Formats: sequence, structure tokens, C-alpha cells
Amino acid sequence: MKLMICGKGGSGKSTITALLARQYVLEGKRVVVVDTDVSNTGLHHILGTNAPPDLTGYFVGQRSMRDAMREARQKGIPRGTPLLGTWTYDTIPEGFCESSGGIKLVRVGKIQNANQHGKGRWVGLARQFLGGLTLADNERVIIDSDAGVEHLARKLGEACDVLIMVIDPTFESIGLVPTVSLMADELHVPLYFVLNKTTAETLPILTKAVPDPSRILAVFPADLTIREAGFKGEALPGGNPAATAVIQRVEGKEWKG
Ligand SMILES: Nc1ncnc2c1ncn2[C@@H]1O[C@H](COP(=O)(O)OP(=O)(O)OP(=O)(O)O)[C@@H](O)[C@H]1O
Ligand SMILES: [Mg+2]
Repeated sequence: MKLMICGKGGSGKSTITALLARQYVLEGKRVVVVDTDVSNTGLHHILGTNAPPDLTGYFVGQRSMRDAMREARQKGIPRGTPLLGTWTYDTIPEGFCESSGGIKLVRVGKIQNANQHGKGRWVGLARQFLGGLTLADNERVIIDSDAGVEHLARKLGEACDVLIMVIDPTFESIGLVPTVSLMADELHVPLYFVLNKTTAETLPILTKAVPDPSRILAVFPADLTIREAGFKGEALPGGNPAATAVIQRVEGKEWKG
């Protein structure tokens, strides 16, 4: 199963990615975390791994991704068909992931200078990597995405089985719910929600913002320990009750999604 975490900037996507990854490991799963955020660099700190080199580097000197994509378009090869290779958990190129305690972190690439424009290229690479990655029964993928919805417009959502939108108590998060709902429908990917950084005052407001409250997988209250770990760049632990609840739901113990 491939889960994609999306939501507005700062809503808690990376935090929830890390909490879910840690919890999955506690439950005996092997986890690949795919960092598709081209700007922020801190995910590895809260995951407790080193920073992996950009996956773009793996393709340097190999067949140009752009050529492969162009040829695929001309031949009408369906989007999502692996064009650049296939991988399993064990064959993800050693030099392009960082492992720690059952988690492998892969990052598509980080923009380092003003000449690295062309977001489509990074999303295309992420789609290729995800499309080419075959999982065993005990393996899961969590995709930590860029803020906002551009990656959805570029069809990255097609590469996942479930989309989880993080909603935090901000006007912008609430405003993004209808857009993400529409895009998930268009991509034919099931959409679920987690509410994050809630307080007694904001929880009812956020709950109302979700069109179908049965789609709320769990609520992550505002938590000083999480905030401090994020600030200091320290690994987040497994055992978070809301992360456990999310996993129970998506694993179909209570429902089929
Ligand atoms: N439940 C929570 N309680 C307290 N603080 C939280 C919680 N969830 C996230 N935070 C804090 O909120 C901030 C933003 O979180 P995070 O970086 O995970 O968001 P993001 O959606 O990945 O942001 P970006 O869009 O910039 O990648 C961080 O400082 C993090 O520690
Ligand atoms: Mg993030």
C-alpha cells in the first residue's frame, strides 16, 4: 500500500509521515518514505535517518528522463508505466536512500539554486520511482508531498492507493478541503483526512469542514512534545495513539478503504 500525505504548508504533513512510519515499524512493517518536497530538507531529522542524496543523481548519465517521457507519450504508453526501472524494498539503489530501523528514506530532490526550475520534472521522477516500486505484503510506502495541490494537478496522486489530507486549524486548510476533494475524485483515489494540532476550541470547527466526517481517520491534538521535537530536529517516536488509529483504519481492520 502506498499512502500519500497532502495538505497546506505547515499543516503537519512531514510530522504525520514520520509518526506513521515509526508506528508501522513498531507493527513489524518495512517502510519506504518518499520525500517529494523539493524545498524543505528536515524530514530525515524527525524520521531519525541521515539525509539521502537526491534520487535525480541516480539518473545522471543514464537515459534522459525527458527522452523516455517524450517517447512514452508519442507511443501512447499509459502514465504510471515504469520507464526508468523497477525496484523492490531491497533493491532501491543503496547510494540513494538512507535506512534506519526498518525505514528507508528516498528523496526525489531538493532545489539548490535559481536555475533548477521545472517542477514537472521532479514530479515525473517521483511518479516513475513510485510506479516502478513493487512492494511485498509487509511493506508500505508513505509519500510526504509538497505543500498545496500542484503535485495533485500533476497527477502524482495516481501513484498512491490512499490520499490522506492533513487539516490544521487555519483558514487556508479549511479552504483547501473542497479543492483536494474534487482533485481526489478526478484522480480516482480515495481521500481521507486527519485533523492536526487541534484544541478543544478548534476540533468541532475542523470536523465540520470535512464533507463526510466518517472519512476522518484520526485526530492529532496540538502536542508540545511533537512541536519541540520538530523544532530541535529530533526523531519522533512510535506509539502515537492517533498514528496507531490511522494505521488501523487504512489497514482495513475496521473498514475497507
Ligand atoms: N500535532 C502537533 N502538535 C504540535 N506541533 C505540531 C503538530 N504537528 C506538527 N507540528 C509542528 O508544526 C510545524 C509544521 O509541521 P510539518 O513540518 O510537519 O508541516 P508540513 O505540512 O510538513 O510543512 P511543509 O508544508 O512546510 O512541508 C512543525 O514545527 C511541527 O513540529
Ligand atoms: Mg513537510
